[in-house]
Amino acid sequence: MPTALVTGATAGIGAAFARRLAQERYDLILVARDQDRLDAVAEGLRAVGSAVEVLAADLGTDAGCGRVEERLAAGGVQLLVNNAGFSTAAQRFDRIDREAEEAMLRVNVRAVMRLCHAALPAMRTTGRGDLVNVSSVAGFFPSAGSPTYAASKAYVTAFSEGLSAMYGPAGIRTIAVCPGFVRTEFHERAGLPTQGVPEKMWLSADEVVSAGLRDLRRGIPVSVPTARYKALVAAERLIPSRAMVALGRRATQRRGH
Ligand SMILES: NC(=O)c1ccc[n+]([C@@H]2O[C@H](COP(=O)([O-])OP(=O)(O)OC[C@H]3O[C@@H](n4cnc5c(N)ncnc54)[C@H](OP(=O)(O)O)[C@@H]3O)[C@@H](O)[C@H]2O)c1
Repeated sequence: MPTALVTGATAGIGAAFARRLAQERYDLILVARDQDRLDAVAEGLRAVGSAVEVLAADLGTDAGCGRVEERLAAGGVQLLVNNAGFSTAAQRFDRIDREAEEAMLRVNVRAVMRLCHAALPAMRTTGRGDLVNVSSVAGFFPSAGSPTYAASKAYVTAFSEGLSAMYGPAGIRTIAVCPGFVRTEFHERAGLPTQGVPEKMWLSADEVVSAGLRDLRRGIPVSVPTARYKALVAAERLIPSRAMVALGRRATQRRGH
């Protein structure tokens, strides 16, 4: 059976990736910080028939990244899902806790770069492999709520497109998965209010995973699930940046940030 390593596999989108890949008969390596939750998720996936390893690691630290890098460098991982990520609460940037912003960049940006770097040599040797990096539609839009989060996701999308261009011809597929609002623990953990988000804008984690894996296998480098979000991203490319910034400010105010 092929093996997939999924970061942030104990909740939300990462847990949905792990479930789907187990159904597709992948063996799994699950990464997150909370050992008890890792063990509980692993037990459920073993019941589906997958061999499951767990790796408790904080991807915001050198030591945590290093442990996952070592596992990837040992080889045998055909699919890496860089999913772990979070946002800080929306607030005025000049009042923000700078340490928290840096911690977010370490997980959302630096860990994604490091784990792709660690996975690629073995994939190059076998001439096949898949890199799935969970980004966000937030990376396409100016955010007056969490500009560092939006910029971290713009990095993930651009980085993934670059890897796709670099390694596609060598048989290694890379995709940036860019969901909109997804019902997970994300907003509550960040302390981000969601009361202004219309019902029709919410996605399920399973929808995001289905679209992401389908697009990966079709060779599409950026996956934006649903026609509604695809239209929004297409519109962003046509609207002048001054108008986009004004829209970003209004959307943030409407959500009560
Ligand atoms: N939900 C949305 O609306 C939305 C929209 C667009 C993009 N995204 C992106 O989707 C990805 C997954 O988010 P989600 O919504 O599924 O969030 P979630 O429900 O809060 O789950 C986050 C997962 O990441 C793990 N994690 C967090 N910090 C970590 C760290 N420092 N080291 C290792 N693991 C860590 C968590 O486990 P532990 O706490 O045990 O470590 C958990 O398994 C993120 O990259 C997020 O930016 C989410």
